[in-house]
Amino acid sequence: MDPVVDRLGRPLETLRVSITDRCNFRCVYCMPKEVFGRDYAFLDRKELLSFEEITRVVGVFAGLGVRTVRITGGEPLVRRDAEQLVEQLAAIPGLEIALTTNGALLPQKAEALARAGLSRVTVSLDSVDDAVFRSLNDVDFSVDRVLAGIDAASAAGLPVKVNAVVKRGANDDGVVALAERFRGTGHVLRFIEYMDVGHTNGWRLDDVVPADEIVARIDAVWPLEPVAPKSADSTSLRWRYRDGAGEIGVIASVTKPFCGGCSRARLSAEGRLYTCLFALRGHDLRAPLRSGATDEDLAELLRGVWTRRTDRYSELRTAGTADLPKVEMSYIGG
Ligand SMILES: C[S@@+](CC[C@H](N)C(=O)[O-])C[C@H]1O[C@@H](n2cnc3c(N)ncnc32)[C@H](O)[C@@H]1O
Ligand code: SF4
Repeated sequence: MDPVVDRLGRPLETLRVSITDRCNFRCVYCMPKEVFGRDYAFLDRKELLSFEEITRVVGVFAGLGVRTVRITGGEPLVRRDAEQLVEQLAAIPGLEIALTTNGALLPQKAEALARAGLSRVTVSLDSVDDAVFRSLNDVDFSVDRVLAGIDAASAAGLPVKVNAVVKRGANDDGVVALAERFRGTGHVLRFIEYMDVGHTNGWRLDDVVPADEIVARIDAVWPLEPVAPKSADSTSLRWRYRDGAGEIGVIASVTKPFCGGCSRARLSAEGRLYTCLFALRGHDLRAPLRSGATDEDLAELLRGVWTRRTDRYSELRTAGTADLPKVEMSYIGG
């Protein structure tokens, strides 16, 4: 089968699926409480794609060359029986199933997820300082409970990565402590530059801590050396501790954008397909799914969307583009 490529020659390889726009955290850089409070209009249950609908769409994507599906949200584990979706997806041959979670529900769920066929998990943890972490998640959730989630995932046999968003003045002075906590554990820690996703977090370029600065701070304590990227599509720049204590990554989507190798499509919880994290509008897949489209019809639709794709927002980002309307991270899933 020929790969499906877009107008810039990028193949379609990875799909991120948001399975809910709801979350049990209110991270200040993602779902600030002032906006995502009691009155916020979250999607209704009937608006969400069912697990059967998601599995069908993912199967069609797999037929077009997608090899990895990442389940995300909102917080994916707040959707009831998420492990059943994993089980359904695991029946699609040749597909790797990853999950991004805040870790809060992993102590209860890790084993069932692993049993259902999950390949690996990424847990978000932005600080190991309890007061700082509680103020970032804004629901008073402790570091220890996330660490318990990471341990539960590990004990269930799941490879774990840890993601930390770095926001200047909020948690950047904890970068070295985070590195120290995960050095030598086998869990790769990845720092993410704070991005201008959505328009509710009041993003400013001054809040971004450049990847080079993050690496320099850690290198000053434990010398680092670069590691070659795993693939052209890799979002993360890799570094290894010279003393053999493992690896870190930095996702420099603001200061070193990586649109050139981007092979990711994104499906929102209500079944809209986005070809860029910063896209304004998605393509509706739910209507055709619910009005009798065949798998061939869906494949044709997806192929048409991907082959017309030209997105490279991060490479075009300027101070001015921050004000353009965009979808929220909690809706599209990162
Ligand atoms: C939207 S969350 C969804 C999955 C899950 N709730 C979690 O937090 O891992 C996915 C990832 O996006 C990151 N994220 C959210 N808002 C961000 C922003 N403004 N800039 C950079 N990363 C962000 C989160 O830290 C998380 O690692
Ligand atoms: S980053 Fe994840 S955990 Fe935090 S508010 Fe957004 S969706 Fe929820």
